[in-house]
Amino acid sequence: MSSPTVARSQDEAEAKMEAVLNLSKRRGFVFGSAEIYGGFRSTYDYGPIGVLLLRNVKDAWWRSMVQLRHDVVGLDAAILSSPEVWKASGHLANFTDPLVDCRNCKERFRLDKLDDPDVCPNCGARGTFTEARQFNLMFKTHAGPVESASTEAYLRPETAQGMFTNFANVLNTSRKKPPFGIAQIGKSFRNEITPGNFVFRTREFEQMEMEFFVPPADADEWYRYWCEMRFRWYTELGIPESELRLRAHDSDELSHYSLATSDVEFAFPWGWDELEGIANRGDYDLTAHARASGEKLDYFDQATGERYRPYVIEPAAGATRTMMAFLLSAFHTEEVRGETRTVLRLHPRLAPYKVAVLPLSKKPELSGVANEVLGLVQPKWMCDYDETQAIGRRYRRQDELGTPLCVTVDFDTLEDRAVTVRDRDTMAQDRVPIEGLVALLDERLGL
Ligand code: GAP
Repeated sequence: MSSPTVARSQDEAEAKMEAVLNLSKRRGFVFGSAEIYGGFRSTYDYGPIGVLLLRNVKDAWWRSMVQLRHDVVGLDAAILSSPEVWKASGHLANFTDPLVDCRNCKERFRLDKLDDPDVCPNCGARGTFTEARQFNLMFKTHAGPVESASTEAYLRPETAQGMFTNFANVLNTSRKKPPFGIAQIGKSFRNEITPGNFVFRTREFEQMEMEFFVPPADADEWYRYWCEMRFRWYTELGIPESELRLRAHDSDELSHYSLATSDVEFAFPWGWDELEGIANRGDYDLTAHARASGEKLDYFDQATGERYRPYVIEPAAGATRTMMAFLLSAFHTEEVRGETRTVLRLHPRLAPYKVAVLPLSKKPELSGVANEVLGLVQPKWMCDYDETQAIGRRYRRQDELGTPLCVTVDFDTLEDRAVTVRDRDTMAQDRVPIEGLVALLDERLGL
């Protein structure tokens, strides 16, 4: 599928994806997991730079969704959970994808993702698919040494249920009342039939979800509010509006729990695809867990004497998938003095390193003052320190890591106690005294 608003040819889009994959491997963002054994089924490891970028995406979400609000609190629930939870939530019965096998080439596909449900995209054969079978995406395991029905457990396929099962605990301990939210970031697991497109769809991934409990009469208004807030989160962190859209689900697309859902979609190289879903889940989950557990999962408003079961508005984003979108969107190449410069124009809040300290040479005279500078900057921001290679090549490396500011220490620094600050985006260089350096970097980063 190609997008009307993002004018890129298919070739260009594929070349960009290739270049980002290459950069990601070369600079230590993401590695294939267990690569020394030939890899393991679309699982990935986040390298020294990727772990910083992913952490910054999660921190930016937490800051916006928890820290800067008085009406949302956090939670970190268990990954392993009882089948009771998934029976009540509907996942055991409904969390399935339709699976078909091609009788000709033996490949497996998700029926609902095929362009033509009669043609195998692998071998091109027509009419060779088996009848669709519903395949449950949850990973089952056993908690304890004995493998029996009574020890069955599941790895959570979403973080959301931890928020519903803890609704009463949070209500009773946090002094919050609707409208209020519970937010969580953490790993989820789905036995996807067709993982792919790098970290876009994997079997192990991270989610950033928030369940916002509201009086039922206010649910529509809060749904629209969260659609707008969540769209804005991506643009404020640097993704241009032309690469984003908010798409409301048709009624036949809605999940089993949803009254309304809109997706924030990003213009991926293969077309528009989902970053996040914002759903009005009604009282589906609290009702389901109240019925199954026998607990009263509703809210008693002492002021009005009214008892009601809140509706839930849920913005549910993927951290790993979102990280990939930020990488793709920030990736630029340009001609600089006859050479191609690759630069990640990441928002400073997301940049893995905010500052790189670069002594002009490895000579011991410089390392003393360079370490002094590092000692000033490091307590405030994540910094890189690099003293090998020509300075131009080191700037290019930092451009590829998305480092907004480089601080170069040279031999004049020994005399004038000043350093050069170089800007990633403009490549402008300014000489500034060490004394005012931290204040200047603070202002330039604008965090
Ligand atoms: N609690 C609702 C829920 O989980 P979802 O649309 O299934 O909704 C939310 O998942 C987000 O999690 C998606 O928008 C996507 O960003 C991310 N996500 C889901 N499955 C994923 C997968 N297999 N790999 C990477 N990210 C995934």
